Amino acid sequence: MLLLANMRPGGVMGSAGSYTLHPDMHLREAAPYLIEQDYSAYTADQHAVWAELVQRRMPQLRQHACREYLEGFEQIGLREDRLPDLKTVSSRLQPRTGWQSTPVSGFLPPGAFFEMLSARMFPTTTWLRGRDSLEYTPEPDIFHDVFGHVPMHAHPIFGDFLQHYGQICAGLITNPIALERMGRVFWFTVEFGIIRQNGELKVYGSGLISSHGECTRVLAGGCVVREFDLDAVMNQEFDTGAMQPVLYAVESFDQIYEATKMAEARLK
Ligand SMILES: [Fe+2]
Repeated sequence: MLLLANMRPGGVMGSAGSYTLHPDMHLREAAPYLIEQDYSAYTADQHAVWAELVQRRMPQLRQHACREYLEGFEQIGLREDRLPDLKTVSSRLQPRTGWQSTPVSGFLPPGAFFEMLSARMFPTTTWLRGRDSLEYTPEPDIFHDVFGHVPMHAHPIFGDFLQHYGQICAGLITNPIALERMGRVFWFTVEFGIIRQNGELKVYGSGLISSHGECTRVLAGGCVVREFDLDAVMNQEFDTGAMQPVLYAVESFDQIYEATKMAEARLK
C-alpha cells in the first residue's frame, strides 16, 4: 500500500510485549475505507494465480531478500499455495509486534493512511491481479501488500519505524512540502529499500520483493545504488510508473528508524 491511519477498538502498542489498543482510540479518517475480506469468495483460479506469483518469486528471494523478510514470511504463516486470510495473518503478527494487516477498499487519502500506520494497522487491499498482469499492477493488490510488505512488519524495529513514520506524517498533514519529502523516505525504504547484509545487497522494499523484473534488474546492477543518506533521499524525486534509476542501501533497520527521527526534527 502506498499511502494510508485510525484506531479500531483493539489496539496500538503499549510497552514491550503488550499491544492492546486503547479502547478510546478509534479510527476516524480511515473508517470509511475499512472492509471485510470475503475469503470464501476467492476462486480456485485466484488461489492458483497467487501460487504462481509466489513460486515465481521465492527462488530469487531465498537468495536475495533480507533475512528479516524471510523470517517474517514464516512467522506470519504465508503459504505458497493459497491466498492469505488476513485475520489469520494478523493473529500471528499482532502478538509479535502489534501490527495487523487490515483490509481496505483501495487507495486511502493521506490522513487515513497515516492514521492507520500510527495505529499499527497496515491498509491491505484484498483484490488479486489477473494472470495477464503477473509482473505489474499500477495499484497495489493483495500480492503487493501482503507478500511484499507484511512480512517485514514482524520485525520489531521495522515495525516501530513504520508506526513512527505514520505518526510523523499525520502531524505534517497540512504541510504538503514536508509530506512530499517524507514520501520520498517511504518510497526509498518501505517500497524500494535495499540493505547490506554480510557484504551483499539484499532487498526488503515491497516494490522489489513483489516485482520479479525490477528486482532482477537491480540485482544485476541495472540501477545506481547509493549509501542511504537522509538529505539525498528527501531530495530524490521518483517516478512511480518507471523502473528506478537510483536506490539507497542501508546498513541496518535501526538506520531508517533513526533517519526518520532526524527527519521529524528537521521538518517541525
Ligand atoms: Fe507498497
